[in-house]
Amino acid sequence: MLPPGVDPDRIPAHIACVMDGNGRWATARGLKRTDGHAAGETALFDTVEGALDLGLRWLTVYAFSTENWRRPAEEVRYLMGFNERLLLTRRDELNDKDVRVRFIGRRDWRVPKRVQRHIDATEALTEGNKGMTLTFAFNYGGRAEVVDAVQALVREGTAADKLTEKAIRSRLYAPDMPDPDVVVRTSGEHRISNFLLWEMAYSELIFTEVLWPDFRREHLFEAVREFQRRERRFGGVEA
Ligand code: IPE
Ligand code: IPE
Ligand code: MG
Repeated sequence: MLPPGVDPDRIPAHIACVMDGNGRWATARGLKRTDGHAAGETALFDTVEGALDLGLRWLTVYAFSTENWRRPAEEVRYLMGFNERLLLTRRDELNDKDVRVRFIGRRDWRVPKRVQRHIDATEALTEGNKGMTLTFAFNYGGRAEVVDAVQALVREGTAADKLTEKAIRSRLYAPDMPDPDVVVRTSGEHRISNFLLWEMAYSELIFTEVLWPDFRREHLFEAVREFQRRERRFGGVEA
C-alpha cells in the first residue's frame, strides 16, 4: 500500500540522501556528537523501510565523505566502527528483505582492513538480491570519483577523443546505477558537499530542515510528493 498522495506511476527510480545534522541533533540535547551518529541508525532503517514501501529500486546514502577525514580522530574512529557495526548487525535483515547492499568510494589505506572485509562480505552476501539496491557512499567524493574514472581510462590507453561522457560514466564506481532523480539533504544546509557530482546533473534537489536523526519514512514520502509536483525538462521545453 502506497502512502496517500503518492502517484504510483511516477515513483522515482533512485533517491539519494545526504544524511546531515547528526552533530547538531546531539549538541542540542547536551549529548556527544557521536551520539547523534548513533541516533542516525533508526533514521536510516526507517528510511529503508519507507523506500521498500514505495517500491524504490535504488536508495543511496552519504555515510562518509573524502573530506570527513578532517574531523577529530576520535570522531573518525567512531564513524568507522559505527559503519562496521551497522553492517554486522543489519546485513542479515537487509538480505532477508532482498536488499542488495553496495559501497561506492575510495578503498584506500585509511579505511581499516576489518571494515573493508565486512564491506566485501556484505556485498558478496547480498549481491544476488533483486529488490532494492542500497548504496553507501563511504569514503566517497564526487571529484575523486571522476578523477578515478578518467585515470582508469587513461591507464587503459584510451585516446583523447574517446574520453567521452559515455566512457567516463562507464568507469564510475557503480556504472549500472541510474542517476538519482531526487537528492534529499537534511539539516537545512543548502549545499552538495561533493556528493554524486557527475550523477546529479539533472537531479531534483530537496532540502529539509529536519536533522537526520529525526528523519523518518514520512519525510521520504513527502520528498517523493514534492518530486512529483515538479516539472523536469532536461534542457528542453514544456511538453
Ligand atoms: C552527518 O552529520 C554525518 C556525517 C557527516 C558522517 P554531521 O556529523 O555532519 O552533523 P552536523 O552537520 O555537524 O550537525
Ligand atoms: C556531508 O556532510 C557528508 C555526509 C553526510 C557523509 P558534511 O557535514 O560533512 O558536509 P559539510 O561539511 O557541512 O559541507
Ligand atoms: Mg554536517
